[in-house]
Amino acid sequence: MSEIAKLELNGKVYEFPVITGSENEKAIDISTLRSATGYITLDPGFKNTGSTKSGITFLNGEEGILRYRGYPIEQLAEKAEFLEVAYLLIYGSLPTLAQYTKFKKTITLHTLIHEDMREFFEAYPAKAHPMGILAASLSSLSTFYPESHDPYRPQEAVDLTIYRLLAKLPTLAAWAYKNAMRHPVVYPKNNLDYCENFLNMMFSMPTEDYKVNPVVAQALNKLLILHADHEQNCSAATVRVVGSSQANLYTSVAAGVSALWGPLHGGANQAVIEMLEAIRNDGGDVDKWINKAKDKDDTFRLMGFGHRVYKNFDPRATIIKKASDDVLKALGVNDPVLDIAKKLETVALNDDYFKSRGLYPNVDFYSGIIYRALNIPSEMFTVMFAIGRLPGWIAQWKEMIEDKAPIGRPRQVYTGATKRDFVDIDKR
Ligand code: ACO
Repeated sequence: MSEIAKLELNGKVYEFPVITGSENEKAIDISTLRSATGYITLDPGFKNTGSTKSGITFLNGEEGILRYRGYPIEQLAEKAEFLEVAYLLIYGSLPTLAQYTKFKKTITLHTLIHEDMREFFEAYPAKAHPMGILAASLSSLSTFYPESHDPYRPQEAVDLTIYRLLAKLPTLAAWAYKNAMRHPVVYPKNNLDYCENFLNMMFSMPTEDYKVNPVVAQALNKLLILHADHEQNCSAATVRVVGSSQANLYTSVAAGVSALWGPLHGGANQAVIEMLEAIRNDGGDVDKWINKAKDKDDTFRLMGFGHRVYKNFDPRATIIKKASDDVLKALGVNDPVLDIAKKLETVALNDDYFKSRGLYPNVDFYSGIIYRALNIPSEMFTVMFAIGRLPGWIAQWKEMIEDKAPIGRPRQVYTGATKRDFVDIDKR
């Protein structure tokens, strides 16, 4: 028998159906609440609100489970290529060899950026944050492809936008970095794979070719997979809400980049390294910083700790921690901030404040340490996250469009002034 939720309001009982997901997740469907009762719900930060049904990513925060289209993140991170995972997220199943070969080749053919757009980069100041450049350039892409504006075009036309986005984002990201260095940009190379090509565009110089280290390329592949989707997080929800107005995919993804930039979301990876460096420069007194994080009068938070959904552990952090040990060893890097990170983690995991609130290291706690070992500068960390998250944003947008989702438009409880009459300026 299907479950029913009952709500009693002013003596009257209303019934709402309970929806059960494929992993037995339960939700009370209140879509008729306002028309039936005149009431709305209030849930700041959407902590209890499901905004959609989705078949893309399953996450169980209590048990630390993360699966893309049913496949455990541990298996994908170990065995798959990033573009294979992108295909899986966007199109729903793992590609056959023929499908994957065609997909990779098509993406390789779209990596170039229009020459007019290259000139945009010269206008940005050297200290421009690359996330600002990335958001602006993704939105700018829509101006080069006006035929992409209608989200309800035939599938092949939508696919072309998807290929262009996947192909061009690494080019835009590497060029944002070159802009900060005031170095000439490096053009994409079709004989390199996705990760190798990105590394080459980042590190190749007119004076010296860059030889891709397979350890570095593999580590990057793993990091991108781990970041590829995370169901209805802040940036994915943003992409869906922007896309629900039928704004084009480029612009919807640009909005996702902006949402990701903040330090409470993807910007945490940059913030973690800056925090670890600050602790080191301050003498390395970990307890002092733990106490700052616990002090309610201090705005400092332990960056890379805590998660809206994971309350026991973040499975991505477990994989990244192991990967960071392997990468540092393989590259012979001895990073002093790693010792501070490990000390901080040990102290926090044994502290009642963090334990009682379910605050554990999240994906960003260790990712910055690997990125540093790969010579990626800290301002680029969140850009790396964006490259990884792009397939997730696309998949969320595509599912939303295919489901013909209504425009995202929450309500509010108004607490401002009640009606009052305008007062002329000389009488105020
Ligand atoms: N350091 C210290 N205290 C913390 C931290 C932290 N990192 N995170 C949460 N808390 C405390 C809060 O002060 C609050 O305490 P209280 O109950 O005494 O008021 C309690 O834990 C719950 O925190 P909320 O902010 O209500 O939890 P929410 O789910 O809204 O926030 C978030 C989750 C934003 C990730 C938060 O844990 C945080 O700010 N972490 C640091 C930033 C970070 O690492 N972000 C990356 C997240 S992963 C990702 O987006 C890729």
